[in-house]
Amino acid sequence: MTSGQIAVHWKEEGYIAPPARFIGQANAADPDIFQRFAEERFPECFKEYADLLDWDAYWHTTLDTSDPPFWKWFVGGRLNACHNCVDRHLATQRNKAALIWVPEPESEATLAITYQELHKRVNEFAALLRDFCELKAGDRVTFHLPMVPELPVSMLACARLGVIHSEVFGGFSGTACGDRIADSGSRVLVTMDGYFRNGELADHKVKADEAVDAAAKLGADVDKVLVWRRRPGAYASQSPMVDGRDFFVDDLLQTYRGKQVEPVSMPADAPLFLMYTSGTTARPKGCQHSTGGYLAYVTGTSKYYQDIHPDDTYWCMADIGWITGHSYIVYGPLALGTTSVIYEGVPTYPDPGRPWRIAERLGVNIFHTAPTAIRLLRKLGPDEPRKYGYRFKHMTTVGEPIEPDVWRWYHDVVGKGEAVVVDTWWQTETGGFLGSTLPALQPMKPGSCGPGVLGVYPVIYDEDRNVVEAGSGNAGNICIRNPWPGIFQTIWGQPERFVDLYYRKYCADPDSKDWHDWPYLAGDGAMLADDGYFRILGRVDDVINVAGHRLGTKELESAAITVEEVAEAAAVPVLDELRGRAVEMYISLKPGITGGDDIRGKVIAAIETQIGKIARPQNVWIVSDMPKTRSGKIMRRVIASISNFADVGDTTTLSNPEIVDDIRHQVQSEKLARGEAPRPLTPEEEAEIKAFGRTE
Ligand code: PRX
Repeated sequence: MTSGQIAVHWKEEGYIAPPARFIGQANAADPDIFQRFAEERFPECFKEYADLLDWDAYWHTTLDTSDPPFWKWFVGGRLNACHNCVDRHLATQRNKAALIWVPEPESEATLAITYQELHKRVNEFAALLRDFCELKAGDRVTFHLPMVPELPVSMLACARLGVIHSEVFGGFSGTACGDRIADSGSRVLVTMDGYFRNGELADHKVKADEAVDAAAKLGADVDKVLVWRRRPGAYASQSPMVDGRDFFVDDLLQTYRGKQVEPVSMPADAPLFLMYTSGTTARPKGCQHSTGGYLAYVTGTSKYYQDIHPDDTYWCMADIGWITGHSYIVYGPLALGTTSVIYEGVPTYPDPGRPWRIAERLGVNIFHTAPTAIRLLRKLGPDEPRKYGYRFKHMTTVGEPIEPDVWRWYHDVVGKGEAVVVDTWWQTETGGFLGSTLPALQPMKPGSCGPGVLGVYPVIYDEDRNVVEAGSGNAGNICIRNPWPGIFQTIWGQPERFVDLYYRKYCADPDSKDWHDWPYLAGDGAMLADDGYFRILGRVDDVINVAGHRLGTKELESAAITVEEVAEAAAVPVLDELRGRAVEMYISLKPGITGGDDIRGKVIAAIETQIGKIARPQNVWIVSDMPKTRSGKIMRRVIASISNFADVGDTTTLSNPEIVDDIRHQVQSEKLARGEAPRPLTPEEEAEIKAFGRTE
């Protein structure tokens, strides 16, 4: 966002107090907690989170800032993440469900995996990884797994060995998976034959073959592909198994039945996993998360912000292939010894009452999802929640800004007015929550995430590093002034990019060893109200947030220009009623080429195979030329404004201003004819669209 200068006018929503029933049982109900995490107690305040874990060796230094901004937490400490999520619960709750897996077909039985059973499965798979794949601490393994219990089992088996896992969202294409295999240097890929999605058994193993090929093109060899079978013994894929490379996990496990593997004691700053995310270039960023700091942070925030107690039944509907699932389905909840529900399929299958049936049957009392799912469930089944007898004490929204009226439906209808709601703002990079209300102690305000969480101190800067004051009505770049234990350690293999992207902009002095000089740049535009509550407006960089998933414009554009006829491509966001934002592509063709639907189809296919169906553009517009600056750069904000029927602003500095009217006429008349014109933008949305692509 160009600006602390842009004034946006938003209507303040009123407060809603947490219900007394919730406060009475909350993990954090004493306001004294704010003192414990007051800024003058930083960084020692985070001892409270680390003390929730079992340590093999206690740390000597809480925060080491000697090599900014590569912060090290709990230095000298050693621990094992798998021990903390599994073994240590055996003494008191071995027969409690750690995971409850709900398959998508309703006719298929729900599977409860006790802590004892989880321990057994994790040990056996860890033995296989160690003895058959010869993996050891520090090696990387890529997973391309859907929402099945084999995914947390695989993660925890790696954690047990100190092997770094890198899960690629199951909905991503084989090519996208291959890129990430090559970037991380994994020699082993763990996948599954198939899984259910929207009533269909999807063939997933075929993507493994594409992934191995894509990795090979980048010079990376995959030695072994381990294939879990959705139904052991029955292969659900059409893709042949490659001799000597592909192995069925259920077959191999026969050899490891009952095997126990000692958890490997890891230094606190050993990497636990990589999670790739989109950025401003086509190369995805492997966010590297630590063992001690990360686990302490997700455990502490799960306890206080998700209000998880061991006897709760907690259901986060996110996919484990995203950071939300890693932190708040697997590591945080299991470290606290609770029961975490995993649902295989889509929330509206076979009908929009499905989530509420699951909640009722399993006795879910904590529910966690994203605005895009809430909008869809509201649209397709506005009265469905009333038909079911579940009772939520706590609900979360995460991943994108939530409109106040969507928030209200969530609170009033899904939560039946008796659940507290937290709107948690954070990112793949940050490991855990950054902004949220502390549910029993800070009232809710629809559309605002709330203040910085315990021990996290956000600030909004304008482009000149002036602080944008609370209540000023201006937006700016939200930053976090201090390090916190969940922050990622680096971008895998790209430490300079890590410093450049997240710390360079507002670093007061690159030689300084003082963390105060190194604010973390989140990449979101935000505003701060008088009461200290933040409102997140959205990305200020070249990232489009579709249904809570980040897509990089450069990734989309590079996929489009692999189509032979395409000369140039630009991706822009458009407002979408359900998904928040959707993608529109603009392309120009090489000289002498003409075409229409055939080329549009090729561009869509290229994006789907190189990134995944999730990135499918809503429209592909073929234009005679792109609006460009005199130095030849495509002005994405101009076409983004056209797509959204917003004012294009000043175009006099373009080298070809005449093209703007042509494109506007072409695009808008077709959209009007199809009934696709969006509602008028709010001032905040207009500011976001106008700032789009400002890094050019
Ligand atoms: O723009 C913010 C938005 O999602 C981005 C992070 O996306 P990702 O790394 O995929 O992580 C998603 C799960 C944490 C942020 O930069 N975002 C996330 N949560 C919120 C949000 N925007 C508004 N409100 C939120 N609660």
